[in-house]
Amino acid sequence: MIKFTIITLFPEAVEPYLKTSMMWKATEKSLAEFKLVNLRDFGLGPHKSVDDTPYGGGDGMLLRCEPVFAAIESVKEKDPDAKVILPTPVGEIWNQSTAREFAIDSGSRPAGPSPRAAGANSRAAALRNTPNQNTNSHYIILCPHYEGYDERILSIVDYKISLGKYVLTGGELPALIIIDSVVRLIPGVLGGEKSAEIESFSDGDNLEYPQYTRPEDFRGMKVPEVLLSGNHGEIAKWRDTHSGKV
Ligand code: ADE
Repeated sequence: MIKFTIITLFPEAVEPYLKTSMMWKATEKSLAEFKLVNLRDFGLGPHKSVDDTPYGGGDGMLLRCEPVFAAIESVKEKDPDAKVILPTPVGEIWNQSTAREFAIDSGSRPAGPSPRAAGANSRAAALRNTPNQNTNSHYIILCPHYEGYDERILSIVDYKISLGKYVLTGGELPALIIIDSVVRLIPGVLGGEKSAEIESFSDGDNLEYPQYTRPEDFRGMKVPEVLLSGNHGEIAKWRDTHSGKV
């Protein structure tokens, strides 16, 4: 079972996605668990303030250490092994292999040790401040907002992850992307052929080829002849040559 606790000022923006489609199915099947923690609950003073102006001057407000540490510590109190992810545009770029490593780290690989999985584990460990022996992984995703965060928050973070070289207004969308891309790789979430392929935790990234369904001819755009041929060898060859690496 993989667990994600999302610490956010906007739980209402995150919750609907986790209650929909595959993410919901994953929780229904007890393959994943999602918890939301409202950072505001840990705010300071009567206004539950979570941010303040930067020392040295400058525009905008920064997330303060106290509410963030208190929120993370409240989760770690129950699960000291939980690892903290900070979505940030200056983090390590997230990709399909990293998502797979997190899924493998969650103990979701098929029975029996595999050198490939061990390699992935040690790579994932190398990305962290501390090695992970978990088979039941719990990730806390801290979603920063406003213009940034106090740098000392990094001392409690295990992974800094960037979704790409662009800047978003907060960590909620990156959190959902990280969760979705990991959870869909957990055997049993997607079901069928797709998950079987993923269960093998093959090297390299998934191959994606163009696919078609009915009708055979839509406004003059025809399904490639080979896909209608019933010749599985030729179909496999066609798919192989038309595949793109994710
Ligand atoms: N927060 C703001 N922009 C981001 C990005 N590109 N990736 C991850 N977190 C972010």
